[in-house]
Amino acid sequence: MEEICQIVNDFKIAAMNAIDAENRCRFALEIVEATCKEIDADKVGIRLSPFTDYNELGDSNPGALALHMAESLNNLLAVRKAFDGTFIVNGGYDKEDGIKAVAESHADLVAYRRSFLANPDLPRRFELNAPLNAYN
Ligand SMILES: Cc1cc2nc3c(=O)[nH]c(=O)nc-3n(C[C@H](O)[C@H](O)[C@H](O)COP(=O)(O)O)c2cc1C
Repeated sequence: MEEICQIVNDFKIAAMNAIDAENRCRFALEIVEATCKEIDADKVGIRLSPFTDYNELGDSNPGALALHMAESLNNLLAVRKAFDGTFIVNGGYDKEDGIKAVAESHADLVAYRRSFLANPDLPRRFELNAPLNAYN
């Protein structure tokens, strides 16, 4: 009997967690839904930045964040597996890293920011293996 009570309680907690998780996503999902209704869904993307710590976005549990960072490739692959749209990665990639990420199927596309700011002709430079201006 004690075990049954425990299992009932486990289900109760699981249901509460599911509602909590749903609510944590609600803001982002409502935006995705509203934008998809307005323009074609294949023109809508969502950016997730789990490790961002600027603009007061720091994690409330830095220990857990450190653990996640150590597991970041596994996390990335889990998200990739769960999402069947075009998957774009970003952050600290150079040309070789980008080629590797796509070749190893970690991503469909790689986005570049700082290198692009310093090199508006970045795709051409990649193509020619030309040296890059350092970004500031
Ligand atoms: C000047 C500057 C402004 C940025 N502004 C934004 C922003 O408004 N929103 C955002 O999601 N990321 C922003 N980022 C982050 C970039 O999109 C990108 O994630 C980051 O630079 C890492 O990619 P990279 O190594 O290719 O530069 C900004 C980065 C820089 C350097």
